Amino acid sequence: MTDQPKIRIRDLHKRFGSKVVLDGLDLDVGVAESVVVIGGSGSGKSVLLKCILGLIDPDSGTIEIDGRNVVGLPRAEREAYMRKFGMLFQGGALFDSLPVWENVAFGLIQSKRMGRPEARAVALEKLAQVGLNEEVSLLSPAELSGGMQKRVSLARAIAIEPEIIFFDEPTTGLDPIMSDVINDLIVKCTRELGATALSITHDMASARKIADRVAMLYDGRIIWAGPVADIDRSGNAHVDQFINGRAEGPIQMAVRRS
Ligand SMILES: Nc1ncnc2c1ncn2[C@@H]1O[C@H](COP(=O)(O)OP(=O)(O)OP(=O)(O)O)[C@@H](O)[C@H]1O
Ligand SMILES: [Mg+2]
Repeated sequence: MTDQPKIRIRDLHKRFGSKVVLDGLDLDVGVAESVVVIGGSGSGKSVLLKCILGLIDPDSGTIEIDGRNVVGLPRAEREAYMRKFGMLFQGGALFDSLPVWENVAFGLIQSKRMGRPEARAVALEKLAQVGLNEEVSLLSPAELSGGMQKRVSLARAIAIEPEIIFFDEPTTGLDPIMSDVINDLIVKCTRELGATALSITHDMASARKIADRVAMLYDGRIIWAGPVADIDRSGNAHVDQFINGRAEGPIQMAVRRS
């Protein structure tokens, strides 16, 4: 029974005009597992995430959450399964018009219909979990540093106690030390919740820290997936080139060289 993956993607295809982005992608994420998808800029990581979140309709293929295909679901049903999800967006995507605590409480008030005082109490608890105090809860996101904004985003993602959390480039734009703090918090918070995590990142230090398994997206497919401990001996030239950041190798970046 526990063999059923939390997320099971099969033969996913997506193209924009003549540009094929996903070309038969398969990926499994186990219950309470943390999978990190790596891949170059423009390889389709965000498109993959948007397909899972139902923000983009794939052309074909299936995405099963708890064994149920969610591709093409009507809006009401889609909203119901989305409640299982927490999301940490690239860039935070916080509302500057709302104080920090309300940003964190947003999902509790909107989709869980929690009263404001109770939602505020939960928000303060989640903020404390990521090391932010009550004083910060009253500030506007615009008054925070990038690292603090990421913490707030993380607190918001975990506030609804989701079964699945998506992390989109969680450490982009942070210095190496703050990145490490965020990585530690991601690991701690997802473990405490027993949540399943799917992340996309360029940042190999982050991938090494938060992943149980790493999957590499290239040419529209997952060309290698394995335990994070195996990443340095994947035997895959594309993975090697990517994790070592070499310009030369089988991966050709779309850069004009003249
Ligand atoms: N809505 C869209 N319409 C047309 N093309 C799109 C759309 N969204 C994405 N693409 C194209 O799909 C390809 C993959 O984009 P995607 O954003 O998934 O890349 P990525 O792997 O997330 O890159 P990065 O690491 O730079 O964020 C790109 O060539 C992009 O131009
Ligand atoms: Mg992207």
